[in-house]
Amino acid sequence: MKNKLKNIGTLAFLLSIYTGFGQTNLEVNIDKSVTKIQPTMYGIFFEDINFAADGGLYAEMVKNRSFEFDEPKMGWVEPNSNRHSFNNNSGIARIFKYTDSSSSNHNFARITVKDEQGYELINEGYRGMGVKEGGNYRISLMVAQGNGNITALKFQMIGENAEIIGETRITPATSESEWKTYESVFQASKTDEKAKLKISFEGSGEIDLDMISLFPEDTWKNRKNGLRKDLVQLLDDLDPGFLRFPGGCIVEGRTLAKRYQWKKTVGPPQDREILVNRWNTEFRHKFTPDYFQSFGLGFFEYFQLSEDMGAEPLPILSCGIACQYNTGELVSMDDLDPYVQDALDLIEFANGSVATPWGKVRRDMGHPVPFNMKYIGIGNEQWGPEFIERYKVFQERIREVYPDIIIVSGSGPSPDGDYFEYGWEELSKLDTDLIDEHYYRSPEWFRENATRYDNYDRRGPKVFAGEYAAHPKAEDGPKENNWEAALSEAAFMTGLERNADVVHLTSYAPLMAHKDAWQWAPDLIWFDNLTAYGTPNYYVQKLFSTNSGTDLISVTKEGAALTGQEELYASAVKDSDKKEVIVKLVNTSGKPKEVKINFNGGDLSSKGILLTLKSEELASINSFDTPEEIRPEERAVKLKRGALNLELPAYSLSILKINSK
Ligand code: AHR
Repeated sequence: MKNKLKNIGTLAFLLSIYTGFGQTNLEVNIDKSVTKIQPTMYGIFFEDINFAADGGLYAEMVKNRSFEFDEPKMGWVEPNSNRHSFNNNSGIARIFKYTDSSSSNHNFARITVKDEQGYELINEGYRGMGVKEGGNYRISLMVAQGNGNITALKFQMIGENAEIIGETRITPATSESEWKTYESVFQASKTDEKAKLKISFEGSGEIDLDMISLFPEDTWKNRKNGLRKDLVQLLDDLDPGFLRFPGGCIVEGRTLAKRYQWKKTVGPPQDREILVNRWNTEFRHKFTPDYFQSFGLGFFEYFQLSEDMGAEPLPILSCGIACQYNTGELVSMDDLDPYVQDALDLIEFANGSVATPWGKVRRDMGHPVPFNMKYIGIGNEQWGPEFIERYKVFQERIREVYPDIIIVSGSGPSPDGDYFEYGWEELSKLDTDLIDEHYYRSPEWFRENATRYDNYDRRGPKVFAGEYAAHPKAEDGPKENNWEAALSEAAFMTGLERNADVVHLTSYAPLMAHKDAWQWAPDLIWFDNLTAYGTPNYYVQKLFSTNSGTDLISVTKEGAALTGQEELYASAVKDSDKKEVIVKLVNTSGKPKEVKINFNGGDLSSKGILLTLKSEELASINSFDTPEEIRPEERAVKLKRGALNLELPAYSLSILKINSK
């Protein structure tokens, strides 16, 4: 009986293949370009949240290097002391103010060493310091000698088990009472994720210190004051069409005084005024009181990073409204001018000749050639008439002076509702270029919204899907970057792509999170002080962005787009530069699906490549232990008479690539 049933089953399966029963037939029209895919279609949203810049991308290892945090000794301790007096038998550490009160660098540390026993200070780093065996590390600091005779400063890397894993000495000129910068490089003898930096003072007397800094030599492009190489590599691998910076809510500030001001983030690092990070105490359950912005990664570095990755720089500036979830402070219309001037000056900084004041600042920082910035964003998640009134002034002024710059406005924090409707209506009346939309919604929402843009007005403003992520339910603990979220985003992204005539830029958010210092989850990339991994969502983004094509082509079932019928989603593009046809297929059902793809209107090679991202478990995740649990797998496929039969695995994203002849 059992055998009989088995035979019937096999027969039914063979019959289904032969007759095409249960199979979805898709038609791909190669010859007709439906619309151009913008080179900016898939980009990156960067914000200093979750230690993404200080403690993350920015490779500085010393926390509070210039004693400028609200508690100026935060991050520093005396060894074997749980008191915070910084005054023991061997010495004292005190914070002094510079006499020039107009300086943006306000504080320095004065160390008094009482006797020859030596005084010691430790910097704890950003939840420790990640050092790699054999790696070279550069210490640098500003020193001014005071009374007495401090002969040397010893710097030691202390491992998690208190062992010394690297050291060097700096001998400051004893007669030098003016500030002078010293540098020294040492090699680490062991890998450690949670090392600390100890400074011991030799001799006795007083010495002043500032900008105590430690960087790996091996930064992205080996730049001093550089970025963490492994993290930039993950970003670069996305081949992003644009880089949006510096956020997010961080642009707005909780109050206007605490907003992000780009002019304070350029020039020599020691002159960039520290600002509290607005994520510092935003969430009661995720307090991060030691979160400040050093702006070591400032606007120049963001432009440089965009250039490195071949991404369009997309800076976002304050529109004169502080975060409306916080104070919502408004600059009065009479006082808006400096904010507008900031935007105009930024365009000059990025694009102006070196003969202009801001073009000269760019040149002095080492980049005489303009960055060729094309986009600027005004306001982040603002809403209501106050925003429209202010935005309008920016748009008029920017268009007057720089008519070619594309301006990004915003539709508030939600993808629907009164604020959203009002924003779109008013901004459309202003004939604005691009409207930023944000959605952090459930995976179901993403699957159900694959048709979101099908009925958008083709004559209105274009869409920047600037912040989105599927948020799965979290019973206990953080919302995870699980496969259900990533797969649902993939389904949704076929809808973004199918509407490439309206949707011009898209980016997942937030981008990065430190495992010991995050405020917001899920995030695209997780890292600790040594390593990083891409989530399943990262691989979804990567598969779309590295296969974005140049032209949208149609993929249909019985004449209609595939937008969730039988839990299948699809979009297709061709790449006229690489001479490729690319079909993206998403199966959100728990069962494999048979599809037959017929290619019409062109001559294709019979050989293709299939990239598949899948997991049988929707709850699967990547992690530090299993960073590639979910990652793309590649295999060869063969077309027969211009068609291909494929089995799409349960819960999968498949990218089919075929060369055109
Ligand atoms: O991405 C995290 C935050 O979400 C952004 O800062 C803000 O724009 C949005 O509310």
